[in-house]
Amino acid sequence: MSNEPSAAEEGDAPSSPAPIDKSRRYFLIKATSAVGAIGVAGAAVPFVGSWSPSAKARAAGAPVKIDFSRLQVGERLGPIPAWRGKPIFVLSRSADTIADLEAETDKLADPNSENEAQQPASSQNPWRSQKPEVGIYVGICTHLGCSPQYHPEVEAKPFDANWKGGFFCACHGSKFDLAGRVFKAVPAPDNLQVPPYRFVSDSVIIVGEEEGAA
Ligand code: FES
Repeated sequence: MSNEPSAAEEGDAPSSPAPIDKSRRYFLIKATSAVGAIGVAGAAVPFVGSWSPSAKARAAGAPVKIDFSRLQVGERLGPIPAWRGKPIFVLSRSADTIADLEAETDKLADPNSENEAQQPASSQNPWRSQKPEVGIYVGICTHLGCSPQYHPEVEAKPFDANWKGGFFCACHGSKFDLAGRVFKAVPAPDNLQVPPYRFVSDSVIIVGEEEGAA
């Protein structure tokens, strides 16, 4: 099955199957107005709830609601082609990961998110998110646009013997930590982008709107 979900048109049942990281387990994402699942090779394919009026409007930048209530600690939801046609990663981070993000910065090119173009001010912190335990990132490598792969394990990897978890872009070898911060001496010049978003509950966000916006 392709990993490219089809966009839902207005009036359709929610039908945007989003690929999900398979390193831990499969889970379902509840749609906003309905809940559904398609069995594929024994796995559950999640749905993304969206109140945007159409796929065309979403591509133009309409905000998109994402429910990640089934996401477990250490898992990554996505990439979800959810906002302006860009894939979105949603991470659930453990306390250990959060502590590492504050301590492990010497190998990073922009550990303090000083490139303000890459995140809203509300995410200019060590975890690059509004809540330390939830990370929201655009899943596009800042080098030439490949999709970085999620490697949450703290273990030696072929691409890094001291890997602490993060994203690896196999296209040209760029590495990002679990806050989307790019490592030094890799092709990618910038941290992963953080989209504007706001929480509407502990497990639902709207991507494309910032806190306080109308
Ligand atoms: Fe990711 Fe080149 S596109 S390293």
